[in-house]
Amino acid sequence: MDLKNKTAVVTGASAGLGLAIAKDLAERGARVFGLARRKEKLARARAEVGELFVPVVCDITDEAEVARAFAGIAKSAESLDVLINNAGLGRFGDLDDLSIEDWDVQMNTNLRGVFLCTRAALPRMKAQNADSGFGGHIVNVASVAGLLGNPKVGAYNATKFGLRGLSESLMKEVRSDGIKVTCIYPGSIETEFFDTAGIPISANPMTARDVSSTVIHVIEAPDNYLVSEVMMRPLRPSG
Ligand SMILES: NC(=O)c1ccc[n+]([C@@H]2O[C@H](COP(=O)([O-])OP(=O)(O)OC[C@H]3O[C@@H](n4cnc5c(N)ncnc54)[C@H](OP(=O)(O)O)[C@@H]3O)[C@@H](O)[C@H]2O)c1
Repeated sequence: MDLKNKTAVVTGASAGLGLAIAKDLAERGARVFGLARRKEKLARARAEVGELFVPVVCDITDEAEVARAFAGIAKSAESLDVLINNAGLGRFGDLDDLSIEDWDVQMNTNLRGVFLCTRAALPRMKAQNADSGFGGHIVNVASVAGLLGNPKVGAYNATKFGLRGLSESLMKEVRSDGIKVTCIYPGSIETEFFDTAGIPISANPMTARDVSSTVIHVIEAPDNYLVSEVMMRPLRPSG
């Protein structure tokens, strides 16, 4: 896809990987609707990315807020070409110590939020396919924790393994509608994720721009070329 003059929605665009992807999309001429809860961080993102970044305050776990956000985007944008389901978080620890709140917030953000945003985007993408023969591209941000289980990561593992299943199912469901679905599995990235995750970051993580560069590469692939899964890791995580 040539990203110039296209419309993208990036969830979790106020920080970390989502902000890096928003920047790279805007650099290629796409208008980016950036969803997140923190208004001030979104305003900073707008100042950093420029006028192609449109801040949208939205909690992706809230059905009504997601519906409102996508209705607003449909009004002000002629198309919806790219959806990056990036917003997510981890709460790590022994399973018998994990609070119900920590379980629920991971399930609700990492899975329910993806479901709500994807469900809101699909009708538009299907209609675009009917008009032009190409629907759009959905990129789901999972994690290596979507492929490998580890101690103290149980709930997060469950959400990211779940996201892998959702992505593979959806990929097969909507390819005939001209919609690409890609699921990515990054290892550790230097972001705010580890401020609240409950484990330290590895000594030598990837940068958000590293991971974003591959996301952009995958989106820019020719229409009939779908990269459905990508795993990324730092070469020397311990430095
Ligand atoms: N960092 C890593 O090592 C790593 C590795 C593999 C995969 N990942 C995945 O990468 C994705 C991005 O994480 P990150 O590392 O960039 O973390 P981050 O720096 O903590 O950013 C998370 C983003 O998600 C947003 N967010 C969280 N809950 C939300 C909600 N309910 N509604 C809307 N937005 C919400 C946050 O914005 P607000 O707080 O403003 O809402 C923020 O913009 C996540 O899915 C994570 O699981 C991260």
